[in-house]
Amino acid sequence: MKAAAERAERITEAILEVRGISFSYTMREGKKLHVFEDFSLDVRYAEFLGITGPSGCGKSTLLRIMAGLLKPERGEVYFRGKPLKEPTPRISMMFQNPALFPWYTVIENVMLALIHEKELTEEEKMERAKVFLDMVGLMGFESAYPAELSGGMKQRVALARALVSQPDLLLMDEPFSNLDPFTAISLRKEIETLWQNQSLPPSSVVMVSHDIEELVELSDRVVVLTKRPVKIAGIIEVDLDRPRSRRSGRFYEYVDEIYTLLS
Ligand SMILES: Nc1ncnc2c1ncn2[C@@H]1O[C@H](COP(=O)(O)OP(=O)(O)O)[C@@H](O)[C@H]1O
Ligand SMILES: [Mg+2]
Repeated sequence: MKAAAERAERITEAILEVRGISFSYTMREGKKLHVFEDFSLDVRYAEFLGITGPSGCGKSTLLRIMAGLLKPERGEVYFRGKPLKEPTPRISMMFQNPALFPWYTVIENVMLALIHEKELTEEEKMERAKVFLDMVGLMGFESAYPAELSGGMKQRVALARALVSQPDLLLMDEPFSNLDPFTAISLRKEIETLWQNQSLPPSSVVMVSHDIEELVELSDRVVVLTKRPVKIAGIIEVDLDRPRSRRSGRFYEYVDEIYTLLS
């Protein structure tokens, strides 16, 4: 119960703060595509934050900014109270399509995420990678190559790779949208279980999704974004016990509330 108490205490504190950022892409003729103008959002400690919004509004861009992969032109991103200047192993990202190296085995793909951990020997890296492969249900597939795996298994490798550095924050960009429904259900459950076990990293998860039911099932809060330039249309606090049943009337009240904000 210690974890729950700690969680309640920390839940109002931000692990990541996006403060008044502006960001634009420069197009071919030098024209600018303004994605964010003075945009702010907090990710709290120990929360599961869902993000949704129209296609092309800037959700993937926002996650890349949160990961330190893109720099805002104005404004600041703070991670655990300090300005985030570059990517850090403390923040991991998982994409819609698992970007695995085809010429490396499953375990080598996971070990790549530990490349900067200079104090670990190769054996220790291998041990650690194995622990996380077991955790995502890939025991026995260490020496397989990505081409030998199903889509769901590849996404599990990507999850093990995202978790092996034991990040505080996991960012997921539509992680289940390319999986068959059964694989998506089991992977969703596993991520929820992992996140709920607060003795394990990550503390906080941010997930972008178009699947509103999926967002209500998993999220403590759901942020609904508008079209560009992006504003927050609303933030829904989902106050339902876990594990959540999609059959309850209250579940669908949240779903409806989000659809209303999207339209
Ligand atoms: N590298 C890029 N260069 C130019 N424009 C981009 C680039 N990446 C995304 N965009 C554009 O920026 C907008 C936001 O993109 P994105 O963040 O991918 O949206 P979302 O994930 O919400 O669908 C879109 O209009 C998209 O076409
Ligand atoms: Mg996207």
